[in-house]
Amino acid sequence: MKEAKLSTRHLIGIKDLLEEDIHLILETANHFKEVLSRPIKKVPSLRDFTIGNLFFENSTRTKLSFELAEKRLSADIINFSASGSSVSKGETLLDTVQNILAMKVDLIVLRHPSVGAAQFLKERTQAQIVNAGDGTHEHPTQALLDAFTIQEKCKKLKGIKVAIIGDILHSRVALSNILLLNKMGAKVRVCGPPTLLPKHVSTLGVDVSYKLKETLEWCDVANVLRIQTERQELQYFPSGREYNLYFGIDKSTLDQLEHEIVLMHPGPINRGVELSTSAADSKHSVILEQVENGVAVRMAVLYLLAAQKSA
Ligand code: CP
Repeated sequence: MKEAKLSTRHLIGIKDLLEEDIHLILETANHFKEVLSRPIKKVPSLRDFTIGNLFFENSTRTKLSFELAEKRLSADIINFSASGSSVSKGETLLDTVQNILAMKVDLIVLRHPSVGAAQFLKERTQAQIVNAGDGTHEHPTQALLDAFTIQEKCKKLKGIKVAIIGDILHSRVALSNILLLNKMGAKVRVCGPPTLLPKHVSTLGVDVSYKLKETLEWCDVANVLRIQTERQELQYFPSGREYNLYFGIDKSTLDQLEHEIVLMHPGPINRGVELSTSAADSKHSVILEQVENGVAVRMAVLYLLAAQKSA
């Protein structure tokens, strides 16, 4: 693989990446996707590199995907979940991480419910930090794997029309996707009920629509987001049934469109709310391909960041 370097030694958010960094990560992920298609899917790239996966919030895809990416790269890993740990005895995030780093860990992958948690650790520890989702702020590796999948399906990112649909207000996936797609020259529209769109979202350089059908007719790719009830302190819409009536997507909606679109969702899906089962499992859907690509993309991120350490 050619020797190119990221401009950063951490991945806190898409906001910190240059366009060249994103190209480099996507190109490197392409290489690792090929590696993952071989009978022997493991490479020795991160031998003698130790990664701590710290999950203070629930996760299926991100946690397993990082762990598998690390194993495929031959890294040594330790896994930490807040439940069952000394966090329940009052230990702080910083103390927890400093104790883990004392065991000679090189890089921390952090998921945390608080906005800014990854930035907080970056400023206070020597370790390299990868943000695996901080509250409603950013989820950079999700945006990278989404971009990788769009590029794979549409052959490019520049000029591709991407609609991000649903609960934009509580979504870190939305912000990271908007930042990345804008940097790469895609056209972005957000669509959802007014209560679930941030007030000044258009200042991020996106179109805004409250009309699902019109948005689906406009876009090449629909990235449908989960209604995040666990982050909603208020009632933002009358009921899941009513949300589904106006913003839910089923297979017949997709089949009736004048052109084919790519259907994405970061998971987990609320089946019957934002997507029907017939849509989620339809030929339009690339949801499991997103998950597959997540491993290659995370391998690329870890490989490139580890190279920064020894630089
Ligand atoms: N997409 C995503 O972040 O899923 P998990 O919460 O399961 O990691």
